[in-house]
Amino acid sequence: MHILGLCGSLRNGSLNVRLLEAAGRSLTDDVSLELSAHVAALPLFDEDLEVEPLPDAVQRFHAAIRSADAILVASPEYNGSLTGPLKNALDWASRPAGDAVLRGMPLAVMGASPSRFGAAWAQAETRRIADRIGAHVIPLELPVAKAADAFTVSGDLRDPDLARRLQRLMTALVDLARGRTELDHLAMQGDAVQVGATPPGVAA
Ligand SMILES: Cc1cc2nc3c(=O)[nH]c(=O)nc-3n(C[C@H](O)[C@H](O)[C@H](O)COP(=O)(O)O)c2cc1C
Repeated sequence: MHILGLCGSLRNGSLNVRLLEAAGRSLTDDVSLELSAHVAALPLFDEDLEVEPLPDAVQRFHAAIRSADAILVASPEYNGSLTGPLKNALDWASRPAGDAVLRGMPLAVMGASPSRFGAAWAQAETRRIADRIGAHVIPLELPVAKAADAFTVSGDLRDPDLARRLQRLMTALVDLARGRTELDHLAMQGDAVQVGATPPGVAA
């Protein structure tokens, strides 16, 4: 099975790319994770661009989503929310109108930031938006706080609890994509977060 990884950060040396790479290493051999270059290539969403043929970058992005079995998003937080490039990509993934390429797609969200909250707001916003588009959003979060110090030299998560949560997130995503678990079941687990809700008491 094939997972498409979307990163909300475009910069070289992104900690969220590092997180996606750590996620890739946690997968079994029969699961691949491709880090998508589409987010950076997409034009700014504009309804005037929604004429046939769609821009090449949009066509490639839609094709990449359609050929994936699941989506894994990692995003930093910009001003208490997800980044502009990621929101732009999600807006394109919400099209065609009424038949979003993201609809029904298993999707997990995680995030890394230098703050002590680990991009929790960005993750909550991303889950809410993806849910609204119709993706099947895993009700778990992975807030990697103080992210500059969060990785070992080999790129794995230093904190054993976070490493365990990353493994759990990936297992949930793969199991959902393979039909081995259901969102309702995941939502009843003790560590589940509410998809569609902003966490209370979290400040940037
Ligand atoms: C415009 C801007 C706004 C930011 N706002 C927040 C924020 O609200 N909360 C936070 O934790 N970090 C914030 N940061 C810091 C980013 O989380 C940090 O730069 C992070 O390392 C970016 O992720 P990356 O390493 O994957 O590029 C902001 C950074 C920028 C450039």
